[in-house]
Amino acid sequence: MWPLQVASRAKEHTGVLVEGRLTCTNPQCLGEFPVIDGIPIIVPDVAAYIATHQGVITRRTDLAHETMSLIGDCCGPGSEYDTERQQLSTYVESHFGDCVTAAGADTRSQEGSFLQLLEGGFQLCGALPTGPILDVGCGVGRSAWYLAEQCDTDVLGVDLNFAFLRVAQEILQRGHVSIGRRKIGVVYEAREFAVDLPAADKVDFWCCDALALPFSSQHFSLSNCLNVLDCVCSPIDLLRELERVLVTRGWLLASSPYDWSPGTTAPGAWIGGHSDRGELQGAAEPLLRQLLAAGGHPQSLDALRLRAESAAIDWAIWLHERSCVQYKVHAFAAQKEDKGSG
Ligand SMILES: C[S@@+](CC[C@H](N)C(=O)[O-])C[C@H]1O[C@@H](n2cnc3c(N)ncnc32)[C@H](O)[C@@H]1O
Repeated sequence: MWPLQVASRAKEHTGVLVEGRLTCTNPQCLGEFPVIDGIPIIVPDVAAYIATHQGVITRRTDLAHETMSLIGDCCGPGSEYDTERQQLSTYVESHFGDCVTAAGADTRSQEGSFLQLLEGGFQLCGALPTGPILDVGCGVGRSAWYLAEQCDTDVLGVDLNFAFLRVAQEILQRGHVSIGRRKIGVVYEAREFAVDLPAADKVDFWCCDALALPFSSQHFSLSNCLNVLDCVCSPIDLLRELERVLVTRGWLLASSPYDWSPGTTAPGAWIGGHSDRGELQGAAEPLLRQLLAAGGHPQSLDALRLRAESAAIDWAIWLHERSCVQYKVHAFAAQKEDKGSG
């Protein structure tokens, strides 16, 4: 594995590289990876990523709420702009709703909060080996702060959603969130609040593909992967990649509502199948138990073994003032054994 080096520092903020360029030190590669808004973009095909995401990458974030509202009205429901605003509203509320000061807080119950899911899932893991933690599909990043505080170790959050990562980096660099919180339809209210969480010096956020992680094998003590399995084209390849980057005796913590969508995951790749005439009738849990047992299935993972699971943890996702999706997620913890010992 060849390290990356900083090739240019175009913009810095309090010593943090905000814009610049990393290069691969492998003479056969010499690939360039941009850093934009503090986010290193380290994906297999940088050109394709930037071409596909140029709208969000170049989007201004300094516009007044009224101007954003006007743009939202012009683009209309279903537009890329609208989708991005909705997702940001949903995940900022889910991850940081509890940080809003008393004046701006509402009285909704925290039942099914992301933090409760995280705490419940984390209890499934045993003692972690020392070493850094990878938070895969970290979204706007709350889990990275939580894990850094709990484990007193470095945590790297990775995601492919640039808008989410920008919020996470904004909190990291300025301790501040400025967001439109969806009231209904395309109507949003302006919301600004400070986020002051411990262990910020141990957290960072990069843009990486969970299916092609730019890390050497045997590197992380924990791969945290909450609610991502049903968001990738190949859940089994995701498990294999998370196993690869774990050190021996490292842990995988995963949860999922198995809320598959064919546009993201082809039905043939849904864990548990997709037919009521299939053996498992769509139940993911039995297949996961087989995949995470030595010899349990022809596709069993090499060294990742199931240690504990929770059948249903509440996870509520806010959509707007009158709508919230209430999931019951399956959470499980698996540990990487010495190869051949299981
Ligand atoms: C349902 S959200 C869950 C976010 C967060 N973990 C949580 O539970 O609130 C799924 C996340 O996975 C990210 N994601 C999907 N495919 C990915 C991939 N191939 N690599 C990295 N992140 C991915 C999405 O961008 C999104 O942030």
